[in-house]
Amino acid sequence: MKKNRSSRSWIIKQHRDQFYKKSKILGYRSRSAFKLLELNEKFNFIRKNTNLLDVGSSPGGWSQVASSIIKNGKIVAIDKKPMEKIKNVVFFKDDFLKEESKNEILSIFQKKIDVIVSDMAENTTGNKNLDCIRTNSLCLQVIDFSTKILKKEGVLVSKLFMGEEFLEVKQMAKKIFKKVKFYKPKSSRNISKETYIHCSTLNSL
Ligand SMILES: C[S@@+](CC[C@H](N)C(=O)[O-])C[C@H]1O[C@@H](n2cnc3c(N)ncnc32)[C@H](O)[C@@H]1O
Repeated sequence: MKKNRSSRSWIIKQHRDQFYKKSKILGYRSRSAFKLLELNEKFNFIRKNTNLLDVGSSPGGWSQVASSIIKNGKIVAIDKKPMEKIKNVVFFKDDFLKEESKNEILSIFQKKIDVIVSDMAENTTGNKNLDCIRTNSLCLQVIDFSTKILKKEGVLVSKLFMGEEFLEVKQMAKKIFKKVKFYKPKSSRNISKETYIHCSTLNSL
């Protein structure tokens, strides 16, 4: 039992170290950057002209990836925590769940946008079910907001957890979007319940 636990933590550490080292070499602020790179390689939704919202952006790995690809589009990022400046990214520190934050985002863009990415997650409590519910309800909030800000042919990519409320997220996404897919990047640990939802083309409601 003890041996199993230590080999499990060895695997987690190896996985973490591998992406940590790679992120340091490439200058990314977080290992999460590799998740967005893989997601974009699979679905190809961030392009030169994309207008993009990054929700739960700090410390900034995803915004760095977006900034390196987008040349003529606007990038807006929001997080409750601070984030150091990134070229071409308008960041504001606030709680995405507040109505004022959503209004602020709408007024910064002044038009419908192409892509929302959300890697938002609550701090873990140690209670896996509770963590899952809390993070999946953030995902539901982002799906809801996408109806207000995305273009008809827009794309939403969001973190969620396999577990409590997963089906609710899937059902809501299918009601709102024509295509809904799930993808777990290799850079996301196997034993983690984390996965990503890719939704495209809004249904006419
Ligand atoms: C996994 S981190 C994001 C990592 C980021 N994608 C990167 O590449 O650096 C999750 C972030 O979600 C943020 N977050 C959680 N709830 C939030 C909320 N209600 N509003 C804004 N940000 C939130 C946290 O502060 C945290 O920085």
